[in-house]
Amino acid sequence: MKIVIGSDHGGYLLKEHIKKYLEENNYDIEDYGTHSLESVDYPEFGQRVAEAVAQGKYKKGILVCGTGLGISIAANKVKGIRAVVVSESFSAKMSRLHNDANILALGGRVVGPDLAVEIVDVWLNTPFEGGRHAKRLEKIREIENKY
Ligand code: RB5
Repeated sequence: MKIVIGSDHGGYLLKEHIKKYLEENNYDIEDYGTHSLESVDYPEFGQRVAEAVAQGKYKKGILVCGTGLGISIAANKVKGIRAVVVSESFSAKMSRLHNDANILALGGRVVGPDLAVEIVDVWLNTPFEGGRHAKRLEKIREIENKY
């Protein structure tokens, strides 16, 4: 599976850790930056990754900022994106089963590296359940289409 990843400076170190872990586990990773600890603006990276996922270039994306919050807010402005901020495995699993989340957002200043890769593993390997949940996603699309 091809995955796109991005972060700001607050998420840079965790992004690098996740990228290394995924590459070692044979995932095909595209890194949209940032590439250092120098201060940058998270909306730019959230937008870039979200647009690539929304355009279908990648099925899933991973975003990291200091908290996961700002970068997920930015990503969720892109039509078709369901970005979720997650700090534990149960929510990671449910965000796939029920919400078909297509972007996982993590806080580099919130979760440690081992927990982060556990969350990423669960999130990447849990399918969408469909059924009654698909109808609810359709309702989210209706909200999107209204604005
Ligand atoms: C950057 O200092 C920080 O605000 C950013 O990484 C993120 O946490 C925003 O939500």
